[in-house]
Amino acid sequence: MQTQATYDYQVVRQFSVMTVIWGIVGMAVGVFIAAQLVWPELNVAEWLHFGRLRPLHTNAVIFAFGGCALMGTSYYVVQRTSHTSLFLPWLASFTFWGWQLVIVLAAITLPLGLTSGKEYAELEWPIDVLIAVVWVSYAVVFFGTIAKRKTPHIYVANWFYGAFIIAVALLHIVNSAAMPVGLWKSYSAYAGVQDAMIQWWYGHNAVGFFLTAGFLGIMYYFVPKQVGRPVYSYRLSVVHFWALIFTYMWAGPHHLHYTALPDWTQSLGMAFSLILLAPSWGGMINGIMTLSGAWDKLRTDPILKFLITALSFYGMSTFEGPMMSIKTVNALSHYTDWTIGHVHSGALGWVAMISIGAIYYLLPRLYGKQEMYSVRLITAHFWIATIGIVLYIASMWIAGVMQGLMWRATNPDGTLTYSFVESVKASYPFWTVRLLGGVLFLAGMFIMAYNMFRTMWSGKPFNAPVLAPTAAAH
Ligand code: HEM
Ligand code: HEM
Repeated sequence: MQTQATYDYQVVRQFSVMTVIWGIVGMAVGVFIAAQLVWPELNVAEWLHFGRLRPLHTNAVIFAFGGCALMGTSYYVVQRTSHTSLFLPWLASFTFWGWQLVIVLAAITLPLGLTSGKEYAELEWPIDVLIAVVWVSYAVVFFGTIAKRKTPHIYVANWFYGAFIIAVALLHIVNSAAMPVGLWKSYSAYAGVQDAMIQWWYGHNAVGFFLTAGFLGIMYYFVPKQVGRPVYSYRLSVVHFWALIFTYMWAGPHHLHYTALPDWTQSLGMAFSLILLAPSWGGMINGIMTLSGAWDKLRTDPILKFLITALSFYGMSTFEGPMMSIKTVNALSHYTDWTIGHVHSGALGWVAMISIGAIYYLLPRLYGKQEMYSVRLITAHFWIATIGIVLYIASMWIAGVMQGLMWRATNPDGTLTYSFVESVKASYPFWTVRLLGGVLFLAGMFIMAYNMFRTMWSGKPFNAPVLAPTAAAH
């Protein structure tokens, strides 16, 4: 029987375009702060200072770029796999405009120095309230669409998106609890070490659910679609899901090794971080093995290159993370650029690459075109971005290990071999290489924007299947 649902693509289009725009903005700020580390004289004004722009960068890339990619793709995937249109399309439109307002408010308040001081949760309480309202609306649209689905089961990508939506609501509301003392100033509801514990329970699960579970939702839909084969093991995907969400919740204390946090809590965080390697690699293997029997497609299909390279970086960063959570390793890596290298192998290698791949998949379908304006430009983007990531993370790893070793080196009489400033001086060449890597990655995003606008405004028109013709067509 034919299902005659018309999909709501408007909001998907809006989020997809803004993913590229916010990607450029957030990464341009990243390039600028990377340049400030090489040329400190670029800190020309208070509101342009590194300390104020760094949270602007993290908020812009995670919540504006990553958030738009997640919301846009989830609205697409939930409709296609449920064979139905969005529940309350006007509310979906509200989530788009509400989210853009959050981003604009962040871009104004952070450079002004208005911050709650909690990493990845810096925004002050009025914006936090707006985020909660938008997020709950997003949950209503997403789960409402699942509830009115025409398919008997809920495809695994939606499980990951659903966990991401629920967990982020919980994390945001608990961690942002605060007592306002004015319109732009509040104090955390928690004090001392409890505050630190709640913050890193939030911080690590922001990695686990925002930067991982949501993007695994992207992986479980877009990799099989682009390969043209079903996911390697559906059974493994279910085990992957439950193991991942159970384990992530406990790993937060690895951010607080050697602090006032009770020692047993730190060891518990380390143990769960080591266990996390298994579900993470289960998921990566499931994604990559979806290619089995079709490996040759990797040679010619640049979108697949983005998706599979993203999975490889996911595997790499989820091997590195558990290693860094071992207390003796963390004693070396913490406070150094090694952490920054780890962050960006996950952030650029996994989050950005999988998002870029998914958006390239979506754009022609959303704008009724046969394919992207230029496939060769996608290939160029892929190579420029990959070289950029390698320069970024390799330089940070070397700088990080060097810094850690210099800080702990002692002379026979017990005094420190190096002053801190000497380690800063030794880091300059690596910060310069990182800047170059960032410039390359950003250049790739400009190529993508050009390709996107050419696809939207020109290109061969094509009757995109906006109707769900058969039950097997998602
Ligand atoms: C099995 C998975 C992972 C584990 C066990 C893990 C573990 C760790 C550890 C031990 C640190 C250093 C903490 C410190 O010394 O302060 C860290 C930092 C970080 N990781 Fe991971 N990681 C994992 C995967 C990822 C992925 C996939 C991403 C990104 C997409 C990511 C993003 C981050 C971020 C943003 C930080 C920096 C937090 C901060 O101090 O601001 N991690 N991770
Ligand atoms: C052109 C690309 C990028 C460049 C040049 C760049 C540059 C930077 C720089 C210079 C820092 C500060 C490092 C420090 O304090 O020493 C930073 C931090 C950070 N960036 Fe990026 N970045 C880029 C892309 C991204 C993307 C796409 C994401 C996430 C999806 C991301 C997430 C982060 C996070 C979470 C931190 C804080 C890390 C921590 O506190 O440990 N970045 N970035």
